[in-house]
Amino acid sequence: MLRSLYWASAGLAMIAAGPAFADDLAATGGWSANTKGQAATPPMGWNSWNAFHGDIDEEKVLASANVIVNSGLAAKGFKSINIDDGWWLKRDMATGRVIIRTKTFPSAAMPDGSTSFRPLTDRLHAMGLRAGIYSDIGRNTCGQVFGNGSSTNPEGSVAEREVGLYGHVDQDIGIFFKEWGFDYIKVDGCGIRALPASSPLVKNGTYRAFSPLIDFDSIQRTDVKAVRGLFEEVAQALDRHNPDGQYTFSLCIWGSADVRSWAAKVGNLSRTSEDITPQWSRMLHNMDTAARRELYAHPGSWNDPDMLFIGSGEFDAAHMTEARSHFSMWAMLNAPLIIGFDLRKANAEQLAVLGNSAIIALNQDPGGHQAVLAYDSNDLQIYVKTLANGDKAVALLNRTSAPIEADLTAAQLKLASDAQIGMTDLWSGKTMQFVGETKLPVGPRETLVYRVSGRHLLPNGSYLSELPGNVYPAVDGVTARQLDPMIHRGLGPWTGTRGGGEPPRYAGWGGARADRAPLGQELSIYGTKFPYGIGIMANSRIEVRNPGKRKLVAQVGIDDSGDAGGRRVRFEIYGDRKLLSQSAWQAAGTAPASIEASVAGYRIIELVARTDRPGGGDFPVSWGNAALTD
Ligand code: GLA
Repeated sequence: MLRSLYWASAGLAMIAAGPAFADDLAATGGWSANTKGQAATPPMGWNSWNAFHGDIDEEKVLASANVIVNSGLAAKGFKSINIDDGWWLKRDMATGRVIIRTKTFPSAAMPDGSTSFRPLTDRLHAMGLRAGIYSDIGRNTCGQVFGNGSSTNPEGSVAEREVGLYGHVDQDIGIFFKEWGFDYIKVDGCGIRALPASSPLVKNGTYRAFSPLIDFDSIQRTDVKAVRGLFEEVAQALDRHNPDGQYTFSLCIWGSADVRSWAAKVGNLSRTSEDITPQWSRMLHNMDTAARRELYAHPGSWNDPDMLFIGSGEFDAAHMTEARSHFSMWAMLNAPLIIGFDLRKANAEQLAVLGNSAIIALNQDPGGHQAVLAYDSNDLQIYVKTLANGDKAVALLNRTSAPIEADLTAAQLKLASDAQIGMTDLWSGKTMQFVGETKLPVGPRETLVYRVSGRHLLPNGSYLSELPGNVYPAVDGVTARQLDPMIHRGLGPWTGTRGGGEPPRYAGWGGARADRAPLGQELSIYGTKFPYGIGIMANSRIEVRNPGKRKLVAQVGIDDSGDAGGRRVRFEIYGDRKLLSQSAWQAAGTAPASIEASVAGYRIIELVARTDRPGGGDFPVSWGNAALTD
């Protein structure tokens, strides 16, 4: 008793002085997700890797660029032509400059014997395209480490073959962007992951050892701070060498190193998983790593479940249902739409899938709201995305190989159940209407996608869960990082079915969610269920960009899905750093408390859930039915 009184009063005192045990809960008045660079909407374009792996050359790159322009895909937004691994010859020891392999990129050979990608980027720019380059944050690249022996790997001495950014960030970024004119960079991470002293490639003298900063199998043995520091160095160099802000920064560390908690502050897009393969089950795996991270994607900082594989394997010309599903889901999740196909081989039907303007418009919607799961099962999922003009998009994904009859309800769409709802099927163009709910047959591996209009459930505002692009859990309260068990474990990209299968890898379990508690349960406070709202761990701070609304309302409390261990939580609402409203201290086993703040004129609203004493592990709290209204 005495102890809890002590912490309660200490907690109160800390508000004034700034809490001692959780000072990152202090309101900042800022939006800490990245807005630098060029990624107001998810990047669109083409990348060489899925089509050619390291076996690339200038002709292949230009051939796909030509198809992109001539087919009209460029005009629809597919603008970035990105060169992946395999372009380099070596690092020149005298100047430190990376030399391009002119055998495969002949236009890079300069009369004075040096190499430059400027002729190629000039050519792409003249076609109205952007140009992308690839590097690694370590000394060596993924192709060197995992594709050792490939004919396009760098050549020369151990030192000459160190073509990665490590130790050369400023020089390389300056050359890529200022000299060579690139607009986009993907930075991989194999060089800081896979070359321990025990590696056979180190032991046999092929590469210098790099004591791993990322242990892909263990978040505990990963040096998150150091990894983040290296990527921040690149972000700063990009900023420095591109005073016009004309760059896109793509992070590629596959969801490792707790990247969920910091990538949105550092770059424009961040890979959430290992590589995609052209298999249905692997597509589901990659999709799942982004599907429950809806609050971690915003204009300027997107989730990247990897590139499209339309055109190959189970997404080839004989699998157009799967191809449409893959494209639909990437669009709904605001994933980058980066084509990974040798477009010289694309037929008209495949180009039409990639060029479906109505689906592209969902991905490129200026609202930037990633779709939110309205219904979640291993068989069928229903995703709903809020669009800037007030329409919704809904996708019904049949993950299985058997037909499913789905029920779609007005409540799932957050639309009124007594008014007509109009839907246009974005693949067939057919329209339909219903009131309340409707039945929709979804074929094996099919995704139905509709653009939807109807009367909003909240006529004068939005639930925060309708606006994920405006909501950033800057401090999500996850301190005990756990591997996410919810990700479909598909066939491994490199291992086949050897070993025991791919274990959960992404340490993002327990992150903030829209319309769900952090561990996936319904939002619920002392038995009162909330269909909508934000679920997050205690000791958290959510930043909300106010779209010009006057009031923020919510029902708050400790969520039933965890164990607060006797701790209490106070809910606070700030407007541009000023405390506007706060609840009493809430204990588990107490009914939801109403909280409301007048937010008119405030740009950044912050929602803080603060515990009365430190320690004890993570437990969930709910901002039930949290909404912004007039
Ligand atoms: C890693 C990345 C891929 C690709 C290859 C290139 O595996 O995840 O997307 O860039 O490296 O070697």
